[in-house]
Amino acid sequence: MNSSRILLEEVDSTNEELKRLADKGARQGTVVIARRQTAGKGRRGRSWYSDSLDSIYMSLLLRPAFAPDKASMVTLVAALAVSQSIEKECGLPVGIKWPNDILVQEKKVCGILTEMYMKEEGIDFLIVGIGINVKLKELPQELTTMATSLEKEASRSIDREGLIEALLNEFEANYQKFLACQDLSLLQSEYNERLITRGRQVQVMGTSQQLSGEAVGINRTGELLVKAADGQLERVYAGEVSVRGIYGYV
Ligand code: BTN
Repeated sequence: MNSSRILLEEVDSTNEELKRLADKGARQGTVVIARRQTAGKGRRGRSWYSDSLDSIYMSLLLRPAFAPDKASMVTLVAALAVSQSIEKECGLPVGIKWPNDILVQEKKVCGILTEMYMKEEGIDFLIVGIGINVKLKELPQELTTMATSLEKEASRSIDREGLIEALLNEFEANYQKFLACQDLSLLQSEYNERLITRGRQVQVMGTSQQLSGEAVGINRTGELLVKAADGQLERVYAGEVSVRGIYGYV
């Protein structure tokens, strides 16, 4: 992927900035990276704490030819890439909380927000927004039980640019494997190895589904397989999954 980088000191949200650029015709592979966001967006309409100059706020533009129902898998492709790059660059063990929270020592270091924009014939573009807590000196009190930063966990300084480069390289490699099969077959085992939810009791709180059981792993389309109390294997497509003992069951 031919990627051009746009580096900004401050922006409302890198996802929003990239959407504006995409609307003006920006190419696949365009990346917006900011040092601070004034209106960082999280999933489910939440905001994303974005005031740490040394953290990573970035968004990547994709213009895929695949059908819209495959787009949710791209978030898992990105989650795996973030995990791999943190392991390589920071030497930290990383866990993934399905579908796309990245944890170190069971606390969140990265969140991913993928947004899809449509045109009549299908996907117009996808924006993959990634926020990584590299340095959080003054972490807001309400986040300290749930979040941590790479520098805190590694007890050393982390090269922000090096991590961004590693992440984009890992993403490119994973994305090519995803495109080759149009599913996660080639990435599933690497994802499942890091899946912190695996083998643990989870409670699925979705809009259409409510179930408890043991998380078994993802299948090749990225659904979480959960073994319910009656032994039945259920597939969870979307929804918030709470994991016993992680984030105090939030
Ligand atoms: C989450 O809620 O876990 C997802 C958080 C995603 C935050 C990133 S920071 C860069 C990009 N721009 C945004 O406004 N949000 C994403």
